[in-house]
Amino acid sequence: MDFLNKMFIEDVEVKDKKVLMRVDFNVPLNASQEITSSKRIEAALPSIKYLLDQGAALILMSHLGRPKGEKKPELSLRPVAVKLAELLGQEVKMASDCIGTDVEEMAGELVAGEVMLLENLRYYKEETDNAPEFAKSLASLAEVFVNDAFGTAHRAHASTEGVTKYFETSVMGYLLKKEVEFLVGAIEAPERPFVAIIGGSKISGKIDVIKQLLPKVDKLIIGGGMAYTFFKAQGLEIGNSLLEEDKIELAKELMAAAGDKLVLPKDNLVTESVDFGAMTVSACKVAASDAIEAGWIGVDLGPEATKEAKEITLGAKTVLWNGPMGISEIKECAEGTFTVAQALADTTKGGAVTVIGGGDSVSAIERAGLADQVSHVSTGGGASLELLEGKILPGLAAISDK
Ligand code: 3PG
Repeated sequence: MDFLNKMFIEDVEVKDKKVLMRVDFNVPLNASQEITSSKRIEAALPSIKYLLDQGAALILMSHLGRPKGEKKPELSLRPVAVKLAELLGQEVKMASDCIGTDVEEMAGELVAGEVMLLENLRYYKEETDNAPEFAKSLASLAEVFVNDAFGTAHRAHASTEGVTKYFETSVMGYLLKKEVEFLVGAIEAPERPFVAIIGGSKISGKIDVIKQLLPKVDKLIIGGGMAYTFFKAQGLEIGNSLLEEDKIELAKELMAAAGDKLVLPKDNLVTESVDFGAMTVSACKVAASDAIEAGWIGVDLGPEATKEAKEITLGAKTVLWNGPMGISEIKECAEGTFTVAQALADTTKGGAVTVIGGGDSVSAIERAGLADQVSHVSTGGGASLELLEGKILPGLAAISDK
């Protein structure tokens, strides 16, 4: 699919029109329903501001959490409306529902330059079922549809895919375009050397990404728990480190296909026990990858592996990072991940394009305080992974062609 041929927010006339925009305001909340990160709201601001400046009457819609068709008050989007109003410096009218006569009335009265937010779409299971009648009700509120919800673009739901059938024109917003440009651009037209750093606990979650990237990268650095299944595939002792027994054959195939592109850790930080409840580890030591003793658990890259990952990253012109290098939430096991994060920031300063492809590596770069020092941090977890796997995102595919 040629996303460059998809219609963009700047391609349509929105002045004095009602515009319905799907955003991803699925923000993290604490137990008191307070928003703990407003990144996703901030990421939608360029499209929101543009539409309001152009004189659109803007109706925003999103899901929050997974209420599965139940009107759970703790998953109301009301706190998001408050936060958005604060960020925009103008009133955001909060609807009590996302469909129905009250909402239609409220949308009907909305004038150019005003913004309203519909209540959680997933209060209706018709949203995730992609029910045509539900999509039609949403579409009846406006004349133009904008999708700027990158984080939800991998879902074929009523508000991302179904709704487009009832609009003459559906366009993508600034965030959706930027995400696709960075994530697809990094893979399809990278400046070389192109290095991918893939971590996380399991190979199973990243197989398709690794397969997709291998022919395109110059080096693919493996870190995190998944490295131990590769070691096992080489016949090495891995102690009690994470192992996906049923992926050993696959690890062998990947190693054979990759040749010297694949960079596995030369050494590891190991420990005898990890307490995930208390987030602590017992005393750690360094073990070469061919010298992990029975009973020990790999929890991070060792110093040699960390140095190698850093040097390769610093020499790259394009870097794509997905997944931490160890149990980075535990401070003793975070050195590998934070060194990689710092190397990405440093190589960005030197002119490289650096992309953090969603999920746990996003939290890691945020914890390292370096999120604003890389080229792009994706707002999508599942969506970025599926895009990197080469899958077609239904929300993006449904946008009108130019
Ligand atoms: C996300 O947080 O990844 C998106 O908002 C999608 O949410 P979902 O996995 O509940 O569909």
